[in-house]
Amino acid sequence: MRGVRSGFVIVFCIALGVTVAAAPTDVSQDETNASAAGPPVPPAPAPVRQPDGSVADLDAKLVVCDPNAPPVSGAGVTSIFEAESPPTREIRELGFLVFAICIGIFVVVQGFLALAIVRGIRARRAARAEGVESSPEPTQVYGSVPIEVAWTVIPTIIVFVLTMITIRTIRDIDITSPPEDALEVVVIGHQWWWEFRYPDEAGEVVTANEMHVPIGRPIWLRLESADVIHSFWVPRLAGKMDLIPGHTNYTWFEADRAGIYLGQCAEYCGTQHAHMLIRVYADEPEAFDAWLDGQRKPGVQDPKVAEGRGVFAEYACLNCHTVDGTSDGMFGPNLTHLASRDTIGSGFIPLNRENLRAWIDDPAQLKIGCNMPSLKLDTAELDAVTDYLLTLN
Ligand code: CUA
Repeated sequence: MRGVRSGFVIVFCIALGVTVAAAPTDVSQDETNASAAGPPVPPAPAPVRQPDGSVADLDAKLVVCDPNAPPVSGAGVTSIFEAESPPTREIRELGFLVFAICIGIFVVVQGFLALAIVRGIRARRAARAEGVESSPEPTQVYGSVPIEVAWTVIPTIIVFVLTMITIRTIRDIDITSPPEDALEVVVIGHQWWWEFRYPDEAGEVVTANEMHVPIGRPIWLRLESADVIHSFWVPRLAGKMDLIPGHTNYTWFEADRAGIYLGQCAEYCGTQHAHMLIRVYADEPEAFDAWLDGQRKPGVQDPKVAEGRGVFAEYACLNCHTVDGTSDGMFGPNLTHLASRDTIGSGFIPLNRENLRAWIDDPAQLKIGCNMPSLKLDTAELDAVTDYLLTLN
């Protein structure tokens, strides 16, 4: 009986090992980085000063990740089971297969265990009925060749099959050159926002936090970092891939259906890691081309907001932000087409006049630890620069 029992233990351990080894995530690295820098602490919602001096509750503004939030239904879905791209579908299929095999092993092992318990109880009852104190010891099996062969060969086959399937999945996903007809997008991670660059012969397009892509075409991502390690993760489109300073990583996806796919930085990268959100807008090809054309245009020069543009150019804004035709700062997000975006603060809050004004007034009110300083603008300057930025569509 002891031999059979240790056999159960061996099979169970192998099953457990297989599950852990085949899990398609890079958990170990995430944990290493996070434990070194301490756990991420979500900042408490801060009161936001309004134009009239009143204070608004930030909770009411945090609708960006709400599954029911407009403008697109399903925008809040981030389940890995709702895969909409070839790599995530393959990861999901592999996950299901590993899970099914583990369930099979679990059922077999637990079945034998239950059988042994039931037979043991019955034997004891039978012995008591005969007036004997305990049942006779079961037959002892030592060095049974068939049993040894079975519990060596069966797990070996299972592990071999899982290894081959995993290798095939990795080969499909972790490719080293772009798929045919792929659109290249350079993704640069910053504390705590995303820069997206579209290399293009007609002029590079640069945007932030909201990546537009056409559906039905592979998107080849070149991942870089401007500061610390981040990780690009849009669960329905692609597995996690780290952005490492001084090293370029690549990954790819292909959105099947139009819509907004939400993602999140998946590597602890500092105070506002939790608010380093990604929004991927998968557009019909025509809509994507129209978006790209719009983004290629230089910044709008509306004479009505000349005063605001003056404030922007007079203060430190221009050192950090590019507005084509006005400034060429590189530290913060490119604002040339800010008003064409739905959110500010890396998908953190919806873009509207109230939020934008509060953000410019003091970004740290909304996003504690944010690297953008408050320039202590007076009310008139604040209104003027807000109005100016809202014309940049
Ligand atoms: Cu960037 Cu976490």
